[in-house]
Amino acid sequence: MINKALSYGRRAWFAGVVGIVLVAGWTLAAQQAASDPQTVVNNAFNQFKALKEGKNADYIPALAKVNPDLFGIALVTVDGKVYTAGDVKTEVSIQSISKVFTMAQVIQEQGLDAIEKRIGVDATGARFNSIIAVEGVRTVVGTGAAEMNPLVNPGAISATSMVTGANADAVWKKIIGFHNDAAGRNLTVLQDVYKSESDSNQRNQAIGALMLAYGYIKSNWPQAVDLYTRQCSIGVNVKDLATMAGTLAAGGRNPVTGKQVIDAAKVPGVLAVMATAGLYDDSGKWLYHTGLPAKSGVGGGIIAVSPGKFGIAVISPPLDDAGNSIRAQRSITVISNTLGGNPLAPKR
Ligand code: DON
Repeated sequence: MINKALSYGRRAWFAGVVGIVLVAGWTLAAQQAASDPQTVVNNAFNQFKALKEGKNADYIPALAKVNPDLFGIALVTVDGKVYTAGDVKTEVSIQSISKVFTMAQVIQEQGLDAIEKRIGVDATGARFNSIIAVEGVRTVVGTGAAEMNPLVNPGAISATSMVTGANADAVWKKIIGFHNDAAGRNLTVLQDVYKSESDSNQRNQAIGALMLAYGYIKSNWPQAVDLYTRQCSIGVNVKDLATMAGTLAAGGRNPVTGKQVIDAAKVPGVLAVMATAGLYDDSGKWLYHTGLPAKSGVGGGIIAVSPGKFGIAVISPPLDDAGNSIRAQRSITVISNTLGGNPLAPKR
């Protein structure tokens, strides 16, 4: 009787231990799956691939013709590992994401002060192509207190005008060269987008002329607008964009090629402007949910940077009312929060 009871006791103990080991194993496996970047990227792709909200930008006619179902995700870690899902080959125009890299180029060449003094590093609270925003801040130009930023069109066209060079070709070589270094390959301009935007960019021309009148651009505003239009038409796939974001995440060093593109000490300034103004008038909402410096483009791309961890990019052309890709915002939020990418969150 006693022996039987003992043997039941042992069996129950054994079953208990097996149960604990199994539960611990499952928990560990679940935790590993939750932190495995490829699984997290795949899960986000599957979660959002059927989402049909939003609409392609159409104020640049060529953008309306881009396939709205195009959807690709890429994540590049600071040690150069690349994780992708969906369409990683198709190129879209980089659009406003180029503003980050032209700003970075000016900061690299002329220092952090150059951008802060001439253009400013403050959110305008207005839409990306607002002329009212220019009127609102113009009186403080030259006082060292410009209150705009290089990620809205007036500031971006001015930043492009600040890239030095003997002529337009020389300036362009530097602009495309900087983008190439950040992406880790030679990029080219999508000529159909460049033509379409050049034919329809009268508003940007008006902004360029105003910026000259108010002293942000020193000379030749038509050249600045043309080069800005060209930089917005650079073709990129999602892996290019993630590598560019990864370059910022890795302190200015392209984590795939190893090339130092921008000094590490200058990267926090670039990221600060992205955090403040990267998603235009939705920048605060974005930061609230992700903590990530980011930048959107009307071509459907968004890049986001988790400093010291990874760069991430998504391409999906349909945009919300603020001009930001809907699937890109949702995918990046889920992926980054699952991987602990929020730099404002306490360390786990
Ligand atoms: O200046 C423009 O209108 C375009 N080349 C770029 C706008 C853009 O990407 C704004 N993005 N969200």
